[in-house]
Amino acid sequence: MKDFSNYCLKSLNTFKIDVNADRFISFDNLDEFILFATENKDIFNQKFIVTGEGSNLLFTCDYDGTVIHPEIKSFGILHETDNHYVVQSEAGLKWDNFVEETLKLQAFGLENLSLIPGTVGASVVQNIGAYGVEVGDFVDNVKYLCLEEFVIKTISGDECQFSYRNSIFKNELKNKAIVVAVDFFLNKIPECNTNYADIKACVSDIADVTPMFIRKAVIDIRNKKLPDPDIIGNAGSFFKNPVIVKDQFDELLLKFPDLRYYDLHNGNYKIAAGWLIDVCGLKGFEHKGAAVHENQALVLINKSGKAQGKDIKELADIILKKVKDKFGLALEPEVIIL
Ligand code: EPU
Repeated sequence: MKDFSNYCLKSLNTFKIDVNADRFISFDNLDEFILFATENKDIFNQKFIVTGEGSNLLFTCDYDGTVIHPEIKSFGILHETDNHYVVQSEAGLKWDNFVEETLKLQAFGLENLSLIPGTVGASVVQNIGAYGVEVGDFVDNVKYLCLEEFVIKTISGDECQFSYRNSIFKNELKNKAIVVAVDFFLNKIPECNTNYADIKACVSDIADVTPMFIRKAVIDIRNKKLPDPDIIGNAGSFFKNPVIVKDQFDELLLKFPDLRYYDLHNGNYKIAAGWLIDVCGLKGFEHKGAAVHENQALVLINKSGKAQGKDIKELADIILKKVKDKFGLALEPEVIIL
């Protein structure tokens, strides 16, 4: 276990913002951490945050609280049925390493979620999604440290209340739970999901599409469209795609016939925020060293490497205003702004 004060977070957030946390605690042994947490309950009555790779965070100033960073990384098959494996991973394992390992185990389903930055723990908090798949579709259960009783509790996938980039861990259990492990229910027989346009285009002339092929295609697509956070600071999609009701959608489509959207088939429509920002002419737009990415307008980047969190926040506010003025839609950040 590590327990430091005034700790630099630059390598712990993918925007590469140079800020410090008052206190930083990481752990690679769960039992040791539970004991520590039980004896130091005060930490959880004050300001704290749990971070994975910091791939969905924007620090606008030093963090005047405690950063808890799980570094527990074991994984393996727990049990199997005729058609499924239940594979467990601890929270601190890098998400994409886990996806790769599941495919090596011939446990399928997560391939569309390849190369998403972050950790296994964060994947369920955020209900990560890409190319027609959301992680919640494969979660059997989640184990978390309950910060009221200081015991490990298990919650089923259904109880996690997964929805678009949302879960119980961002709501009812916010600040009350630290995810320590996730059990995934994965297929022995591949069921490749190739519905998403970008994937469809890659597999159109392939006779036998395998999950490994999908993984390679997804990695290819993401590498072409999205900046590598190791090279240029970013947190993936900065905003969520707004969801609107049919009346508002019909009105918008009438004014903007090129609108990019997904029919959610429940009376609601998800509008492609990247398209909205793009149509505002903001691709490549720069503000104090921060910028809108040239290939994908939904991604904000620390272009100069020296932009501060507040500069990126200002850029986000400029975008919010332009989109609101043009389309009457209020974008909501997907990134947590601290
Ligand atoms: N588009 C534009 N201009 C742009 C960006 C997008 O016209 O600058 C259009 C695209 O042509 C497409 C539509 O908008 O018709 C949607 O774009 P895309 O397919 O790239 O996906 P997205 O909605 O922008 C979402 C997720 C991504 C995920 C992709 C692929 C959110 C907020 N983002 O992006 O997730 O990888 O779908 O499934 O839901 C992330 O959360 O960090 C992330 C990268």
